[in-house]
Amino acid sequence: MSSQKLNVCLSPQLISSYADENSIIVVIDVLRATSAICTALHNGAEKIIPVVDVRVARDYLNKGYIVGAERNGEIVEGFEYGNSPLVFAGEHVAGKTIVLTTSNGTYALAAAQMAHQVIVGSFLNLDAVSGWLENQERDIVLLCAGWKQKFNMEDTLFAGAVVSQLQAANRVLALSDSAIAAEILYTKAKDNMFAFLENTSHRNRLRTMNIEEDVRYCLTPNTTSVIPMLENGNIVKMNE
Ligand code: MLT
Repeated sequence: MSSQKLNVCLSPQLISSYADENSIIVVIDVLRATSAICTALHNGAEKIIPVVDVRVARDYLNKGYIVGAERNGEIVEGFEYGNSPLVFAGEHVAGKTIVLTTSNGTYALAAAQMAHQVIVGSFLNLDAVSGWLENQERDIVLLCAGWKQKFNMEDTLFAGAVVSQLQAANRVLALSDSAIAAEILYTKAKDNMFAFLENTSHRNRLRTMNIEEDVRYCLTPNTTSVIPMLENGNIVKMNE
């Protein structure tokens, strides 16, 4: 059996049980923070500064930065943008620095910071992330941002998709029980993830806000080959 581990961490609260300073962590917040990050970098944003505190985000706003601020799925009062990936999908972000604070995604990024390397995954860059991981030798942790420290389905499905791709590539890895469970869920869901997520909590939350379009966008695989990575506290594009 391989000694290289592939773990799925189902809540940021569990991260110290799975990862240490030698790990590679993939931060996952499919709906919608990590999809927004992939979209912004794909559209030419120079970097993204993830911040946990809305007050810090407001300071950046006052200095003239483009800032996305979301709490509980809604745009925080006083900000123009939340974290809908669609608002970062245009040329207006090219060459810009974007500051982002979200309910769970930026929290998960902060929780991952001790790792050897932190990258950002979403269905939008599924193949790129899986392909890159195939060539890594360190232990891998797929960190699901979840919702307020709780399990969520969509992040787990993405983690399962990565597990599935690494298995298909014949990578022999020691899978945690959570990795096995995530892959089983993904296998069940993959033919129609939109329907599979029908009654899940964040899909319902976004539905009441009338943002189904975001959900469809975020569940569309492989629209970009960009791999965002954390570097000195900023998220930048990994060199291809
Ligand atoms: C988060 O960080 O919790 C999310 O991205 C929330 C959202 O969908 O707006």
